[in-house]
Amino acid sequence: MTAARDAVLDRLAAHRRETEHVTLRELFAADPHRFGRFSVALDDLLYDFSKTHVTADTLGLLIKLARACDVEGRRDAMFAGEKINTTEGRAVLHTALRAPAGAKIVVDGRDVMPEVLAERAKAADFAEAVRSGALVGATGERFTDIVNIGIGGSDLGPAMAALALSPYAQEGLKGHFVSNVDGAHIADTLQGLDPARTLVLVASKTFTTLETMANARAARAWLVEALGEEAVAAHFAAISTNTEAVSAFGMDTERMFRFWDWVGGRYSLWSVIGLSFEILIGADNFQAFLDGAYEVDEHFRQAPLEKNIPALMGMVGVWHRNVCGWPSHAVLPYDQRLARFPAYLQQLDMESNGKSVTRDGSAVTSRTGPVVWGEPGTNGQHAFYQLLHQGTDVVPADILMAAVPHEQVGDQHAMLLANALAQGEAFMRGRTTEEAAEILRKSGKHEAEALRLAPHKTFPGSRPTCAIAYRMLDPRTLGQLIALYEHKVFVQGTIWGINSFDQWGVELGKELASRLIPVVKGEVATDGLDGSTKGLVEHLAKLQRE
Ligand code: F6P
Repeated sequence: MTAARDAVLDRLAAHRRETEHVTLRELFAADPHRFGRFSVALDDLLYDFSKTHVTADTLGLLIKLARACDVEGRRDAMFAGEKINTTEGRAVLHTALRAPAGAKIVVDGRDVMPEVLAERAKAADFAEAVRSGALVGATGERFTDIVNIGIGGSDLGPAMAALALSPYAQEGLKGHFVSNVDGAHIADTLQGLDPARTLVLVASKTFTTLETMANARAARAWLVEALGEEAVAAHFAAISTNTEAVSAFGMDTERMFRFWDWVGGRYSLWSVIGLSFEILIGADNFQAFLDGAYEVDEHFRQAPLEKNIPALMGMVGVWHRNVCGWPSHAVLPYDQRLARFPAYLQQLDMESNGKSVTRDGSAVTSRTGPVVWGEPGTNGQHAFYQLLHQGTDVVPADILMAAVPHEQVGDQHAMLLANALAQGEAFMRGRTTEEAAEILRKSGKHEAEALRLAPHKTFPGSRPTCAIAYRMLDPRTLGQLIALYEHKVFVQGTIWGINSFDQWGVELGKELASRLIPVVKGEVATDGLDGSTKGLVEHLAKLQRE
């Protein structure tokens, strides 16, 4: 497989050398049908990759590359519940979490769907009981505040989705998300909350994560101080795969919502990890969110590669990363409520594909995951777009936009869309030095001044963007968007030959932090630490003593 893959990568590199001089402007000028040929719709949602340098030849080679890496075979293996996470010996079945009743998915000889559906129903009943007031706190008061304590996949997804779908939240219910071990996070969150009306969800796949356990202990102490030990059961629920750790932590397993080891943390939003935002938006909206993802799953399974949006997103990304050599990828949602989407995608993409060895443990021979980052437009325009337009690095970007806003605030939505479209056009077209000089002349500058300023007002252009346009940011669309990126990451990981479903790279820092906690507390000497760490520990300790 590697030899076949590398042979196609070589052909792609040669193709790039031959076509590198062709600008995006020229591609559009040469082909009036370029938009139609390089965009794909899935119902209302449109993926437009015409503003990249991909041509029919490029696409043909990228599809050969995907086939050489058996993207379709591995996709089918994932959906079928095969243990494709080989370093942890696990199936990868976040797709089962959004599969409908009637689906059958077998892991280790057992159909997992009955359990999935039972847990889904249990979470829906719980969410509806909180929303209706059927389930109340220890003093009989309705819950008004839901505090989700978790980190990484047990936080980023629910926090991102709660913001994205805030127009669907029930009035009188507010979600709060605590992740950082920095005590400021839990302190700021709990300040002003009424313990009698607060429901705390402790979300952790492993139920051993330092940050989450520390914050859970702090929240418990806060509640006990106000309402007494006996109130804990009514105000806490656990979300985990680890029943033993939940009970060892002193939490009632009756109030526990379960998921399974075949759901990766960063793929767990579809499980009971989504309970906090299911309480906010209600079970029907949560189901619509799952349905949106399921539509994308079916599309990913069935559409031919040349019309398969997540496969195309993955292949275009490989083109940018491996063939063009661009190391980062920006996600620019022109949708303020997707403000946390780039952070969510950072974990999804960078924790999945930030790998340097292939599935068999040998060193990779091509670059893997790019740095993923972004901010909502138009804010980013007034911050980092300068570098995107005129900096020395090319940063391919996704531009996301909704046709219809939730709120009509004057003509602001038209302004927002115009900006999203204008940026894509500006990145594509650029402005030549001659065009810049001409504009300066027309504005009244004399010739010498026009020529002096023109280089500063030149935009190289030919900078690729892909647009994702949808009707409205509703639960179904959010489900679609996340599933698209999940499968994109899968396609890329498959092409790179890595395991996208483990995350050993986060372990070393965790181990060292546990060793350093007693050192920082002054209980253990700094002997044996490297000079810098020792110096820092001693400096901090000195400041603490003063
Ligand atoms: O440290 C990384 C990680 O394991 C992520 O993969 C995960 O989403 C996060 O920590 C939280 O883990 P848990 O849900 O087990 O607390």
